[in-house]
Amino acid sequence: MTKSSPPSLDYRLTVNGRPHEVQDSWIGESLLYVLRERLGLPGSKGACEQGECGSCTVVVDGRAVCSCLVLAASAVDSEITTIEGLGADQALSDVQQAFIDAGGVQCGFCTPGFVVAVHHLLSNHHDPSDNEIREALSGNICRCTGYGRILEAVREVVVRRRSS
Ligand code: FES
Ligand code: FES
Repeated sequence: MTKSSPPSLDYRLTVNGRPHEVQDSWIGESLLYVLRERLGLPGSKGACEQGECGSCTVVVDGRAVCSCLVLAASAVDSEITTIEGLGADQALSDVQQAFIDAGGVQCGFCTPGFVVAVHHLLSNHHDPSDNEIREALSGNICRCTGYGRILEAVREVVVRRRSS
């Protein structure tokens, strides 16, 4: 008996405001996989691929989600924002700059997920308390920095935005 191959899918995703065609995709491919391997957007990182570390965080229809847990084909009608969609014209976003200034980047593997999560937090909450920052970032794991400098970076963005 021969096994038939699973049917392939063609669909379109809207990522960072631009349409992207996905062709010959397996229905079970995660959004993280499709972003990185099919659409040439490798900024979102895959570490645990089980929803535990937040390195793959993207925003889908205004919600910060672990892209490793989202089926790409289920996001056809969604607006997806990745780390590549932050900042403007190759310039760093204010959050990225603050991470650098505060020393919140060491190996950098967790950084894209943190940066997306911080942008998401601050787009919904202009002046979060420390507890609110910690809660918003509680799904993101960093093995290097001890988190202090990341929190410092977030506070600095709040201050800079307030004074600009
Ligand atoms: S790779 Fe998605 S949560 Fe860890
Ligand atoms: S900077 Fe290395 S895991 Fe966060």
